[in-house]
Amino acid sequence: MSIIYQKEKKIFTLHTAHTTYQMQVDSYGFLLHLYYGRKTPGHMDYLLTYADRGFSGNPYDAGKDRTYSMDVLPQEFPTSGTGDFRSPALIIRNADGSYSCDLRYQGHSIEKGKYRLPCLPAVYAGEDEAETLIIHMKDPVTDICVDLLYGVLPESDIITRAARIRNESEKKVTLMKTQTACLDFLTGDYDLITFHGRHAMERNMERKPILHSAQVIGSRRGTSSHQYNPMMIAAEHGATEDAGTCYGLSFVYSGSFKGEAEKDQFEQTRIQLGLMDEMFSYPLEPGQLFLAPEVILTCSTEGLARLSHNLHQCIRDHVCRGAYRDGGRPVLLNSWEACYFDFDGEAIYQLARQAADLGLDMLVLDDGWFGKRDSDYSGLGDWYVNEDKLGESLGHLVKRVTDLGLRFGIWFEPEAINEDSDLYRQHPDWVLKIPGRDPVRARYQLVLDYSRPEVVDAIFDAVCRVLDQGDITYVKWDMNRSICDVYSMETDDQGRVLYDYMLGLYDFLDRLLARYPNLLLEGCSGGGGRFDAGMLYYSPQIWCSDNTDAMDRLHIQYGTSFGYPISAVGSHVSAVPNHQTGRVTPIETRAVTAMAGTFGYELDPYHMTEEDKNLVRDQIRRYKAYAPLIQHGLYYRLTDPRADQAAAWEFAAEDGSEVLVQVVMQEIHGNMTNNYIRLKGLRAGALYEDAQTGRIYPADALMQVGWPVPIEPGDYQAWQKHFVIRDYPDLDD
Ligand code: GLA
Repeated sequence: MSIIYQKEKKIFTLHTAHTTYQMQVDSYGFLLHLYYGRKTPGHMDYLLTYADRGFSGNPYDAGKDRTYSMDVLPQEFPTSGTGDFRSPALIIRNADGSYSCDLRYQGHSIEKGKYRLPCLPAVYAGEDEAETLIIHMKDPVTDICVDLLYGVLPESDIITRAARIRNESEKKVTLMKTQTACLDFLTGDYDLITFHGRHAMERNMERKPILHSAQVIGSRRGTSSHQYNPMMIAAEHGATEDAGTCYGLSFVYSGSFKGEAEKDQFEQTRIQLGLMDEMFSYPLEPGQLFLAPEVILTCSTEGLARLSHNLHQCIRDHVCRGAYRDGGRPVLLNSWEACYFDFDGEAIYQLARQAADLGLDMLVLDDGWFGKRDSDYSGLGDWYVNEDKLGESLGHLVKRVTDLGLRFGIWFEPEAINEDSDLYRQHPDWVLKIPGRDPVRARYQLVLDYSRPEVVDAIFDAVCRVLDQGDITYVKWDMNRSICDVYSMETDDQGRVLYDYMLGLYDFLDRLLARYPNLLLEGCSGGGGRFDAGMLYYSPQIWCSDNTDAMDRLHIQYGTSFGYPISAVGSHVSAVPNHQTGRVTPIETRAVTAMAGTFGYELDPYHMTEEDKNLVRDQIRRYKAYAPLIQHGLYYRLTDPRADQAAAWEFAAEDGSEVLVQVVMQEIHGNMTNNYIRLKGLRAGALYEDAQTGRIYPADALMQVGWPVPIEPGDYQAWQKHFVIRDYPDLDD
């Protein structure tokens, strides 16, 4: 039993393998948070303290007890209007214009298995892998009911949260803010770790102490965004990769979001994650239900590496779905950086021939094959094949490519539209656009109104008509702008549009996968602008960044690794000088960096030397040999590439029987000092063999002193070392 209810004290305890989460319904019916941390028996209600605090009001039913205040007590789902002046999770505008919501406990249920969220992505688990707790809360004055959903996956040290908000009154109300998860800490000093960035430079890690001012991250772009990732960590001051307590929060949603952290007047810390409240005012008619999307929580008392392992495993095994979840991913050649818009069918076929010759698995035809699309100024929305440009039908091209023994993949950007398209000329009202205003263009395109089912249906049909033309087994689903002119012709409540847009997108993706169950989706949004657990429910991999420069990728992939498994990280070797930075790096370095991901190539092999082609053949062979370890092994960050000369990481078999270490030197200097890379996850007392050289290394020395990176001249050298356990010798030998 991972969920226990203690009736006398009304205490809920959620146990996972290593952690405990506890809350209590108090005598007034408020749901208070008691504890989240290392696994423990017992009750933590002793942690609550009461004192008469000036300017912290008291609920009416507390009577003369001036020591009871929601402004001080730790809560599970704080609402506005109860006397808690910290940031609330829920703000509702009631029918009478007031903003109060006072939720009191009504009852609860405990169920086997994990709850589901209709129409939204969510963690899933088998009946025996999870339990669900549903706590029913209600505002007795307005009849607003809130079910707080807790999913407990004990083996993964994961607790999920979501909320169902139901209007059981006779009148319409409006949701003004709905965060999903609130973590209230009674004491302690925490750092907030967030991942900020920009197009082509996503997920830079930043760690700052949580102080007495609100730290807010989020997106108001309609997508989860390049600028802030919807995954954040609260770590005790001083917590490292290997020690200290830290908490991860990951939003299973791909639209606008808000993450908040703040220390309050009594040195207590509140952290919240959920929907962005700007441009959000969601109407709830009588009887209607709203779902606050899911947040994944995990707690590690053994530092950040463990926290990442928990999130990796959860996303890999309980968010990603389909045949490719566990199966090997195709090593692909993508046409984008090879030829951009400039190709015909024969050029693509020649790329495929080169790909087959090098040992690749798949050819991906990127942007430019449809409508009138020789540049990014036109064509989006016209999802029919430009046979004049290709010089053949898509079916014919697909057949020629698959006859080479390759698979065929194709690019779409189904949410976007160019004004210069037949679709726009036919349906100018299908875009998000404010009447009377010129819309903001980005990449010279507009966004389709996915809050309208007829728009989703029409694009769905068009996409299917293309996919039905041949044996197409992969789709790169792109979205190349932020959403700005939030206005749908179909509703008077514009504050619902961004959320409904996401429902439309998720509905499309669900239907697509139902119709093509063996399709591999790779998410993309100008690279990693929608890299979140929500998209990973549909696409087990996401193009991590439009920046393919190996040195920049080290940093982007380092930040990404905190919250997302390596199997999710789309990463390719591209040509040099790199198209984004102009930098030249060795081909081995580019490959080692791309091997911390799904691996592939994004260049025209025709321009490569025979020597490089042979190196590529060897890289592909190596990647395939290591793929199971890379995809399923425990990922360890061995250095911090922002601070250290070497960027180093490792994939370790869970039983410690083998590790793959990858190192890239970021600097080279005269008379270079040594860099020792300390390995992790080996079995103490054992000897390991370097699989390439046969040299034997003691595990403890590799872990405590490290592996010395060879000093070799030249910029950006890279190493890949495979250590395999050999034996446990007697210490006397
Ligand atoms: C986005 C993607 C690229 C490529 C282009 C095509 O920028 O991130 O990989 O597909 O679109 O226009």
